[in-house]
Amino acid sequence: MTFIPFEIMHNLLLGLKPISRLIQRYHRTGINSESEKVEAVFKMYSRFDSPRGKDVLEIGPGQTLEVLKTALAAGAASCTAVDVLRYVPEHQTKSKQIAYIIYDGRRLPFNAGRFDCIWSHTAFEHVRNPAITVAECFRVLRTGGRLVALIDLGDHSQYRMHPPQPLNLFDCLRYPEWLWKLMKWNRSSYTNRLRKSDWIKLFTESGFVIEHQESVVSHVIAEALPSLPYLHRYAHEDAVTHVITLWLKKPRA
Ligand SMILES: C[S@@+](CC[C@H](N)C(=O)[O-])C[C@H]1O[C@@H](n2cnc3c(N)ncnc32)[C@H](O)[C@@H]1O
Repeated sequence: MTFIPFEIMHNLLLGLKPISRLIQRYHRTGINSESEKVEAVFKMYSRFDSPRGKDVLEIGPGQTLEVLKTALAAGAASCTAVDVLRYVPEHQTKSKQIAYIIYDGRRLPFNAGRFDCIWSHTAFEHVRNPAITVAECFRVLRTGGRLVALIDLGDHSQYRMHPPQPLNLFDCLRYPEWLWKLMKWNRSSYTNRLRKSDWIKLFTESGFVIEHQESVVSHVIAEALPSLPYLHRYAHEDAVTHVITLWLKKPRA
């Protein structure tokens, strides 16, 4: 059960830098450097295209630079990670031979055509300016380069529930945009709530070509759909899709 005034207070408190820095120390960002997950995510990234000899950029690695470390071991020419929050202390990034760069979430701090591969795991749903981030990825990718992104479209607050409440998977879609931002903008559980079709439109309109895509659907939501009126404004696929993985290419002109 969501208590909206509490959510708003929580969000406003996290707008205060000293508090957000303190809380950030206790974040768990996902893969959390667990070796089995690192291996699975690396396999997903390199499924159609080996990083050997390539310049690789990861968007939003959180605490986990081990995926890029695996890419270096597999022969990547260079590995760069870019995030809006510093989750990894500087001395650790140096010893891992990975360029770890913190930026403001808008213009990526790289020249055009700098990378052969861009990888991202459960980060695109958190970006505050998705159209800018997608256009920036296109700009910094070389012609012929590839972007692989796994995007989790669920309400991330629900993942902390014990026991899990699969019927609440898309609770984030219950709120108007202004209220959602007031509840979440400063928090790690903020998601931009773009649906599958929004992402596909954004990537293709930016110039990417989809080479392969996979989706995970919530069958619980699909079954309950007639009784979930806040999902009725979406096309069926958008209302039931939980996770998308896209393998994209920047085509040659
Ligand atoms: C859920 S965590 C995922 C971390 C990691 N990829 C994993 O799977 O464990 C989302 C990450 O995206 C980062 N992020 C949010 N907005 C971003 C942006 N505009 N550019 C780059 N990273 C961003 C967050 O700071 C966080 O590290």
